[in-house]
Order: sequence, then structure tokens, then C-alpha cells
Amino acid sequence: ASNAAAFEVRPSANPLPAIQRDAALADLKFGTQFTDHMARMQWRKDEGWGDRRVEAYGPLQLDPAAAVLHYAQEIFEGLKAFKWADGSVHLFRPEANAERFNRSAHRLALPQLPVEDFVGSLEALIAADVAWVPGVEESSLYLRPFMFASEAFLGVRPAHVIDYLLIASPVGPYFPGGVKPVSIWVAQGFHRAGPGGTGDAKCGGNYAASLLPQQQAAEHGCQQVLFLDAKNDRYLEELGGMNVFVVRRDGTIETPRLTGTILEGITRSSVIQQLEDDGRKVIEKDITLDEVRAGVEDGDIAEVFACGTAAVVTPVGRLASPTFDVQINGGEAGQVTMGIRQRLTDIQYGRDEDTYGWMR
Ligand code: COI
Repeated sequence: ASNAAAFEVRPSANPLPAIQRDAALADLKFGTQFTDHMARMQWRKDEGWGDRRVEAYGPLQLDPAAAVLHYAQEIFEGLKAFKWADGSVHLFRPEANAERFNRSAHRLALPQLPVEDFVGSLEALIAADVAWVPGVEESSLYLRPFMFASEAFLGVRPAHVIDYLLIASPVGPYFPGGVKPVSIWVAQGFHRAGPGGTGDAKCGGNYAASLLPQQQAAEHGCQQVLFLDAKNDRYLEELGGMNVFVVRRDGTIETPRLTGTILEGITRSSVIQQLEDDGRKVIEKDITLDEVRAGVEDGDIAEVFACGTAAVVTPVGRLASPTFDVQINGGEAGQVTMGIRQRLTDIQYGRDEDTYGWMR
């Protein structure tokens, strides 16, 4: 169900001229360019959600005392719309993002947003900005729904005024080099989330906490940081902005189990389902860094890959820490990794039948 018709459309007076838009769509990066419009609605305690609209993309008016700027009461989502060969545009599993958004909202003491409103905002914005969905290979329209405490109040309590916004960005591959193996640095002395914290919520604070370790990864020539669990400092959790999988030589695939400190990736669960349906064994378990390092060194681990909405499925070619620095699969993209990437993107781009009913 979708509430798209409830969004009042106020077309932008200054859309980007088509010639400039098409030039932008021919040279895509990740998250640098935004479409002409944004969708929004507002929640007020005692009134609920209202003021649904699509309007010109532009700066927000925010009171300096807006609670989000002080206490970070904020959540977000990320999902993509894909243009198929026949020109039609399809969202990948938007209801799954809507449900996760509500789980995140619960943890951050934000109001629940009806799935129809979440999906409705997506449909209303895409209808307004459909010319912005890129068509070149590996491209998509990245959609970023978010919700934050806009009430001007410095007391520490859940805000009584909440803004929901949806912006859209035509994107190419997340990593600037395109789809090629990335390297990973093991975070030293930092953890992403602890038991009972916000690790399984998609809140900005988790990403803020990842930036310093991520910076240290970059200093060691790595594109992503790998976090170990806070309790034992032993088990793989996730990367700065994506989940992680290892592929054993015998074809078994493993990924960290959901402990409450890990984000439940929609790409993660989609990939698990497809691998299992293809007859592979996928085990969600505690995976120690020691066994991964040893497995890579003795060849028992053949491939490692990262996955997420932004990253899709990205091979990992190197794993490094102060005490070791190992190449995975000779630093090359592995067959299982590229196979699952193909399998997933074939459905997303309509090259394969959508047997899962994932596309909308
Ligand atoms: C995603 O959309 O995949 C994210 O988790 C956000 C960020 C890494 C771009």
C-alpha cells in the first residue's frame, strides 16, 4: 500500500535544465548530486503525521536549538531505484527499509512512520524526479529517507516535533575506483557499538563514531574499517558502512550473526537468501578475526566480500592490522563474490525474473 497521492506536489520553480541534468547523469559519483525535489512530512506530538508534500530541493530552516543538533535524535535509510531496459523504474524491497526504519525509530524514541507513508514518499518523489533516474551501467537513484528531532528545546527528552525528509541522488559505484577489490583495516581500540547500544539501529551516531577509525584505515591505505565486537574484541561485526561475508574454500559462506550490535542489512539478507536458494551453505555465526587471518593465510578462506545498499557486493582484496597484512584471493575479485553480485543485480536491473517479488 502507498500513500503517494496524499503528498501535495509543489513543483520546483528552478529545476536544473535538462542539458545540465543529463550531463550530471553521464558523470556519476556517489552522493554528490541531488534531484530537483524532496519529499517531506512533519510529526507533532498529539497530532501525528501531516503536511505531506513534495517541494523544491533546498536548504532547511532549522532552529539552532533543534534537538537533533545537540542530542542526535536522528535515523536514516538508504535504498535504490533502478531503471530497466524498457525505461520503467523499480524500487528494491522498499517495505523492508520501511520496517527497519521503524525499528530504528523505536530505538531512538522517534515516532513510528506508517509503511504507506514511507513508500508513498518514495513514489511521490520518484514520480516528480523520474528524469533523474540514471540509465548507465552500475547506476541507480539512491534514496535517502531520514527523520530528526526539529523541536527547539534543550531538555533531554524525545522531541515533540519531528521532521521526515526524503532526498534522492543519482549514483554510480560507492567506491571511486568502481567495482574492484577494496582493502580493510581492523579498528584498533575502537568499537562501533556495545551490547544494548544502538548498533542495530540505522542512526547517524553510529556513523559518526566510525569516522575516526575510518580515518585511521585511510592512513593505512584502506578504504573501509572492520569493527570487532566490544565485549571480547575478537569477533567480526561489520565494516564502517556495510556487512561482511567470508567464503571458505569448500564453498561454505559465513557472516557474523545478528547480535544486536550489527545492522541487519537488507542486501545482507537478500544475498543470504539467494545463496541458500542456489544450494550454498550460509552460516550466521561468531567469526573470530584470528580464524579469518589464519584462513586467509592457509587458503581455507578463498574470498571475503562486503555488502550493502551503497556498496552492493564489493570484493575485499586485503585485510590489514598493526600485526598482519594479508592479501585475499591474490588481491583479485573472487568468483563467488562476483557471481552473487551478478545474481543480485540481475534482479535489480530486471535482467532476471523477480522470483522473490523484491521489485516494486
Ligand atoms: C548504505 O546505503 O549502504 C549505507 O549503509 C549508507 C552508507 C554506507 C552510504
